[in-house]
Amino acid sequence: MAKRIDGKAISARVKDECREKVKNEKLDVTLAVIQVGNNPASTVYVGNKKKACEYIGIHSLSYDLPEETTEEELLALVEKLNQDDAVNGILVQLPLPSQINEDKVIQTISPKKDVDGFHPQSVGALCIGQPGFVSCTPAGIIQLLKRNDIEIDGKECVIVGRSNIVGKPMALLMLRENATVTVCHSHTTNLKEVTKRADILIVAIGKPKFITREYVKEGAVVIDVGIHRNENGKLCGDVDFEDVEPIASAITPVPGGVGPMTVAMLMNNCVEAK
Ligand code: GUN
Repeated sequence: MAKRIDGKAISARVKDECREKVKNEKLDVTLAVIQVGNNPASTVYVGNKKKACEYIGIHSLSYDLPEETTEEELLALVEKLNQDDAVNGILVQLPLPSQINEDKVIQTISPKKDVDGFHPQSVGALCIGQPGFVSCTPAGIIQLLKRNDIEIDGKECVIVGRSNIVGKPMALLMLRENATVTVCHSHTTNLKEVTKRADILIVAIGKPKFITREYVKEGAVVIDVGIHRNENGKLCGDVDFEDVEPIASAITPVPGGVGPMTVAMLMNNCVEAK
């Protein structure tokens, strides 16, 4: 039976470390949080981020903009926050309404305030091993592995999913930790054969319970980034937990695995932004 990787407990520890640092070093940190429209999932995520700020002692400034906000208006706000020395981090919750070009918005955020780690300069720095903000979910997964004493160096890591937010930065981080990294995606042939090679399997594909035990090597560590609600309102991930748990050595549950780490690492980035 696999060890359950407790993201709730580890995220609480990371947040407590941030809180201690803010208190001991008397840091005055401010995060600007922008939400455009009323996407219900975004409202929940943004609420969690503001709550975490409050716990840690980070000031959060809320900008709740209407659905019909234009790209020019949003870019003007980001520019204003870039110039404001009292603001250390800028977070624009995604997705944005279709009239706004997300890439353009991300590129407008100053890399010095890019606490999401989405700016091309942040991604480029990660790619060539230079300092910069790292995307929060992949950074959180590294913490889950390290704080559970799971060796990464020299291991076969297979990542399923190649998004800019998770899959690609995850591959770069695992490479930085000296894993041998394979990235799979919707055009991968023989997916099962590839995932079965993994000592560490990281799944971020957005398909409920897609990964069953036929995809997993006995004793593998399985990290599930997915989150879905089934017909009965119960949460599940991209991994069929009940099916895979008996053969894995360690596995993240959904909820309470990767999810809480994203907010914790955002807080860590905000403290680093000071
Ligand atoms: N939407 C889903 N995840 C994220 C995230 O980590 N940051 C932002 N800004 N938007 C998101």
